[in-house]
Amino acid sequence: MKKKHTILIIAGLFLTSLMAQAQDANYDESLVDSYILPDAMTALNGQLITKKKQWEKTRRPQILKLFQDNEYGTMPDAKIKTDYRILEESGEALGGKAIRRQVEITFRGNNQSRKMLVLIYMPKGIKKCPVFVSPNFQGNATTSDDPAVIESQYSTYGRGHQTSRWSFDRIVSSGYAIATFHYYDIYFDQNDKISESIYPLFGINSSTDLLYNTGKAIAAWAWGCSRVLDYLLTLKNIDRKRTIVMGHSRLGKTALWCGAQDRRFAMVISNDSGCSGAALSRRNYGETVSRINKSFPWWFCNRYQSYSQDVASLPIDQHELLALIAPRLLYVASAKEDLWADPLGEFLSLQEASKVYALYGYDTLEGCSFPATDEHLWKGRCGYHIRTGQHDVTDFDWQQYIGFADKYFD
Ligand code: GCU
Repeated sequence: MKKKHTILIIAGLFLTSLMAQAQDANYDESLVDSYILPDAMTALNGQLITKKKQWEKTRRPQILKLFQDNEYGTMPDAKIKTDYRILEESGEALGGKAIRRQVEITFRGNNQSRKMLVLIYMPKGIKKCPVFVSPNFQGNATTSDDPAVIESQYSTYGRGHQTSRWSFDRIVSSGYAIATFHYYDIYFDQNDKISESIYPLFGINSSTDLLYNTGKAIAAWAWGCSRVLDYLLTLKNIDRKRTIVMGHSRLGKTALWCGAQDRRFAMVISNDSGCSGAALSRRNYGETVSRINKSFPWWFCNRYQSYSQDVASLPIDQHELLALIAPRLLYVASAKEDLWADPLGEFLSLQEASKVYALYGYDTLEGCSFPATDEHLWKGRCGYHIRTGQHDVTDFDWQQYIGFADKYFD
């Protein structure tokens, strides 16, 4: 076939799939049915939660378990061996402002091993710096034009392909460190990739080894973020009280799930995470649980499939995931043209979750109206903005995250 025809056919298929995505999704606010959210502040025995002690002892563990059993699944907790090896280091990165360190983390278990490559930029001359942990989509070398960045093993993209998503200069100049890794190192983002993932180290080799609540890709990626934090906390110049997990889209879902479980993270950022991330599942707007289960069955535990036809039967909704972050700093961001991720559903979810912050004496977002585009709403310990443009991470987003962290970190 001639090259021109092939390109036309591929473009046609791409457009058709985009149209199909748009067609079976509702984008009309008047067609969103009324819904009743599960109450984060009522325990399973009906007891009303009015004190932070009750939240922490009773309700928080209940909600965490409900998410493990019904949505993201659990990671096996068997100990696996971890080694760190510094592959490269320079004190003259980013025009002399930063230290660049590239670390290979090797995980061993069940006579197998997996390697994860972490790229770290740290500001020079700061004794204790806050740090972002943020997985990347296309491989470490795509995040920067820096020729010294080592390519991730499964990357198929060119150097610097996604630099616009990584404001390294701004981050380091603001006194923050950042660590990133290619999420494929932990779990290939495709169906049936359990055997290549981290799971065989725990004795889970294929889908036949999965229980109803065994984690899959999102649980594994979240686990990966925590392993990067383990390493960072071995470094003297990292401030263990100011650690941030940040992710975009499916990796925003990942950041939320990671932050919900790993309370060492002092701040959690969801950038355009949408369905099964920050957005409320019970709103029939943009991507739905049914749709995500059909397209990405390898992201969630098997039981999540059973809610596809009856989302109201889910014992949780996403505001409760956000509530698990309390009283730590929480930021949810949306983009104006990213209707698939349901910006209003993301905001309403945060607003609802913020009620739990009141148990800790912080202001909530109750009564706040949806902010104007490109203006942030920061209150109590929660932040939100909706930016102009599409589903993406931009320098504007990073500017907000840094500003919020600067303002609220103790
Ligand atoms: C798809 C998917 C979303 C996801 C997004 C992404 O659009 O439907 O749920 O957030 O990909 O990760 O970019």
